Amino acid sequence: MDSIKQAVELARSGDSPAQQEFIGGSKPIAGGHELATVREVRLDAEHLEANRIVAFAGGESGRYYDMLRTQVLQEMDKKNWQFLAITSPTAGCGKTVTACNLAMSIARLPERSALVVDLDLRKPMVANYLGLPRSGGVLSVLDGQTPISSAVIKAGVGPKSLFLLPGSGPTSGSSEWMASQTMTTLLQAIKREFRSHTVIFDLPPMLLGDDVISILPRMDAVLLVTGVGSSSAADIKECQKHLERVPVVRVVVNKVSEKIDTYYGYY
Ligand SMILES: Nc1ncnc2c1ncn2[C@@H]1O[C@H](COP(=O)(O)OP(=O)(O)O)[C@@H](O)[C@H]1O
Ligand SMILES: [Mg+2]
Repeated sequence: MDSIKQAVELARSGDSPAQQEFIGGSKPIAGGHELATVREVRLDAEHLEANRIVAFAGGESGRYYDMLRTQVLQEMDKKNWQFLAITSPTAGCGKTVTACNLAMSIARLPERSALVVDLDLRKPMVANYLGLPRSGGVLSVLDGQTPISSAVIKAGVGPKSLFLLPGSGPTSGSSEWMASQTMTTLLQAIKREFRSHTVIFDLPPMLLGDDVISILPRMDAVLLVTGVGSSSAADIKECQKHLERVPVVRVVVNKVSEKIDTYYGYY
């Protein structure tokens, strides 16, 4: 929790710098022979960069995400963890940008692979930031219209690829979905089908409802993104109360400096 204390200090200082059969299917998607049937797209580098998604090529622009990746994976590997939740106190702190960049950085490593699941059902943005077609998505898996194997996308970027379970449109039923048995079944299916992957969940903000509190017990670890100027010390402390039972692998203090677009501070 030391990292949370430090984030609180920084915020204070105001420093500007469905059903089982539908969801699971019967055969493994990733690593199994159904992998070949997963829809494949290629991501557009210009679109990614315009949305601050920079960790696909390595080099200077993605350096901070590579550092974050290494720190997060070290923690997760120690405990054999697979599910990483990304959340923040309030909206606009940089969760989706962090989730996409971290996943790309992980996917660039040899013998590693990553899946990003957009569970910010109120404001799904993974598809927008990555330039994916808005169809199907996690909601249609939850309400039983689409099997998970049809909703997952394999996104090629440079010589590597990562798996995505994007959102589609926003829903007002997020809180209910998060607490549902259907969600539990979906998470079990993901755990099983993407066993060898690091699964990154782009969650809603913590303080805008009970969505995150409902789903946190099913996550292995949490990365909390706070935004300088967007997160107050009181907000971060409020989050801390809910994070006592789930290990926090990192607190990212985002938007530390407006001078360098991609600058991130870590604690
Ligand atoms: N490090 C950063 N510096 C400047 N702007 C950022 C940074 N990270 C994210 N942003 C911008 O902030 C806005 C919110 O980011 P986003 O990832 O969508 O937040 P969230 O998912 O937490 O709501 C976006 O316009 C994004 O481009
Ligand atoms: Mg978001």
